[in-house]
Amino acid sequence: MQAILGIDIGTSGVKALLITDQGEVLTTASEEYELLTPRPNWAEQDPETWWQAIIKTVRRCLNEKPGLPVAAIGLTGQMHGTVFLDKRGSVLRPTILWCDQRTGQQCLEITRIIGAENLIRLTGNRALTGFTAPKILWLRENEPQIYKQVRMILLPKDYIRYRLTSVFATEVSDASGTLLFNVAARDWSDEMIKALGLEKSVLPACYESPQISGYLNREAANLLGLKEGTPVAGGGGDQAAGAVGNGVVSAGLASCVLGTSGVLFWHSDEALYDPAGRLHTFCHAVPGKWHLMAVTLAAGGSLRWFRDTLAPDILKEAKETGKDPYELITKEAECVAPGSEGLLFLPYLAGERTPYADPNARGAFIGLSLRHNRRHLARAVLEGITMSIRDCFELGQECGLETGSVFISGGGARSKFWNQMVADLLGREILLPAADEGPAYGAAIIAGSGAGLLGPVEEASAAFRKISARYSPNPELKSLYDELYTLYKQLYGNLRGFYDESAAFVSKYTNS
Ligand code: XUL
Repeated sequence: MQAILGIDIGTSGVKALLITDQGEVLTTASEEYELLTPRPNWAEQDPETWWQAIIKTVRRCLNEKPGLPVAAIGLTGQMHGTVFLDKRGSVLRPTILWCDQRTGQQCLEITRIIGAENLIRLTGNRALTGFTAPKILWLRENEPQIYKQVRMILLPKDYIRYRLTSVFATEVSDASGTLLFNVAARDWSDEMIKALGLEKSVLPACYESPQISGYLNREAANLLGLKEGTPVAGGGGDQAAGAVGNGVVSAGLASCVLGTSGVLFWHSDEALYDPAGRLHTFCHAVPGKWHLMAVTLAAGGSLRWFRDTLAPDILKEAKETGKDPYELITKEAECVAPGSEGLLFLPYLAGERTPYADPNARGAFIGLSLRHNRRHLARAVLEGITMSIRDCFELGQECGLETGSVFISGGGARSKFWNQMVADLLGREILLPAADEGPAYGAAIIAGSGAGLLGPVEEASAAFRKISARYSPNPELKSLYDELYTLYKQLYGNLRGFYDESAAFVSKYTNS
């Protein structure tokens, strides 16, 4: 038997796994790391941290299955982050991540230079703070000494590919999030690169996701305990690879991912655009296919904030008993009636992308009263995140993306309570795939396909798709949740002016 290795370089940690050519998961390992926020609005990580976590997790997987040959490696990871390398291939500064919000000005500048409509025509997307191109412009304007030394710009998983294979390469699904990519043509956009005054030579070669991009070099092989020359496939951005893992690989299928971010993902056979650019249009990891996507930035991120800030005792109890802290938090939330007795939460802790592209948006509890306790806060946080997911879902419907049942995945999907809440708020049946290993599983399928161990990506993915649970919307809660959502919808519009003033206040009075 031969195994396929999938590696996911996530925001909160690395996950590695081995699967068989029948899609069976043999072993998994993960390693957490920190998100650095050196200034308000900033989010960074040191690529070396990812690399060290990869060595540990891959070694742990191999130790579980000694002697098992690994025939191919698939990479996936957080999208949009910028790894700036100098002429020796050394990292020049910490990576600016997808959830960093420092580039509001650069987004305006890009939109001014290219024109809003033209930008969507050229890239399928509008300029958003999380995307890669505004970060490159930020570096040029704010750290010119570093910018001068840049010879290559890589996305997070592609930096790991470089460490593994010594090759500079990316693939279409991750390149789609750079704003330098012609998503319809599945290639770099010379027009964008030129108009922004960038050099194409700083961008890597681009492949379709299953294509083999390089082979494991000796140093990495020794460090990881793998065979030199093992093929490394293109892989995929975390959302595209996650969709392959969930079986969302044909028209009419959609998924909801409750990770650090919350994502609504629709497969598309064509490069469809939202003319207003509110939805992202990216290449899928399925060759020749696309996907549309809506992203709420702090989904699991809001719950993690709740855990760390408002529930230190729960965290302590979880550490002492080995229980999952999120399970303890959702248990608290379950004690409260739907609607949290009028308490609403806005999950814009990291600014927002969909439906409001607003780096200045912030989280809020609204409607607090003396009756409310932490249990209400816990339920309101879950409801607020899920209503933001509904915002994404409704936007998709508005753009004609119809879907029946919705697949659910990500860390949040471990909670039956939350899955039911998603079913109730979206009014759709929610399907939980049996393979709950996330993007690393999809990356392994993509690599298995590229290395010839599996059939085409879409066939392998569909063949491995199994459903372990179904959640039907509760009709009795429909009007309650519809009314709650109507209340929620009013909040952003009412707070918008405040958000801008508050951002100005913070930048005036907060020391970096
Ligand atoms: C997608 C996105 C997130 C990150 C981190 O556009 O920003 O999915 O890739 O998960």
